[in-house]
Amino acid sequence: MSERATSVLLTGGAGYIGAATADALLADGHRVVILDDLSSGHTDTIPNEASFKTGSYGEADKMEELLRDARIDVVVHCGAKSIVAESDEHPDRYFANNVQASLNLLNAACNVGVKRIVFSSSAAVYGAPTSSTINEATPLAPVNTYGATKVAFELALRSFADAYEMQSVSLRYFNVAGSTERVRERHDPETHLLPRLIHAAESGEPFSIYGNDYATPDGSALRDYVHVGDVAAANLAAVNYLLRDGAPVGHTAVNIGSGVGTSVKQAISAVERATKRTVNVEVQPRRAGDPPRLIADITRAVALLNWRPRQSETTRIIRSLIG
Ligand code: UFG
Repeated sequence: MSERATSVLLTGGAGYIGAATADALLADGHRVVILDDLSSGHTDTIPNEASFKTGSYGEADKMEELLRDARIDVVVHCGAKSIVAESDEHPDRYFANNVQASLNLLNAACNVGVKRIVFSSSAAVYGAPTSSTINEATPLAPVNTYGATKVAFELALRSFADAYEMQSVSLRYFNVAGSTERVRERHDPETHLLPRLIHAAESGEPFSIYGNDYATPDGSALRDYVHVGDVAAANLAAVNYLLRDGAPVGHTAVNIGSGVGTSVKQAISAVERATKRTVNVEVQPRRAGDPPRLIADITRAVALLNWRPRQSETTRIIRSLIG
């Protein structure tokens, strides 16, 4: 690479994971151009040091211009629609945004010679695997439209790498959670376990546990919670991996998780300890499409990206949410 600072185009940079990623990239000395249509992002977390453009990555002509004018070296594609239930109700929107518009971005990048891409994929690509931990060779078998769109774009990245010598990394995030000093999850409605549990503990409102008859040690579902700061660090590690001399042409998928499973019941106890309050638990039937266990094997992330989780113990994630 030349002496100038490298320039990264960060789609979805006004969102939860995107904003944390912007901070990590800037702290490491990269120039950051954020592109976000603000459909779910917030301008107040855009760092002053980043440049910001409002718009969609689906506008191919504008994308070519932006990639060229900003002399982009790497695209970090965090932008997406990401609500699982909504994805099954409105597959048109999810395929349009997560696949069609993303393909426009990919074509634009390829056309102007920007050949390095880091993609925010998801453990949702695996569906409901039965193995105790999931490595990247686990078959792709999504059980919802959201996961299907992530598979589709990963496959496009693989084909583009083969045909056009692109270099890409798909980071398959497990359950991203927690807050940094500047960034917190602000979903409306909030469906995720840990923020809902903290709300229930603080408000006294009932908390629904979706299923306690899974074939897991305590009957509740197991997930792998990974701190958003660790996810941001993984994006940075993938960018630096692609920028280094001799980075291979091709597409690689990498799991990003803590490598540890936490059950819903364990999370309830941890929130009760951290808040010193009791959660008023109601047992409800299983939520449609919920796999019993999703726990990452993170061997590849450690070996390839020299990345490891640093702040993803569940108690630490919960403390970061409490403030
Ligand atoms: N849960 C409850 N009660 C609640 C909320 C959640 O019991 O009020 C349970 C769920 O049934 C599940 C676990 O807590 O067993 C975690 O649920 P989340 O909604 O927090 O997260 P998911 O595992 O369903 O999904 C998340 C992301 C997806 C991503 C997936 C990949 O939301 O985008 O992780 O692992 F695809």
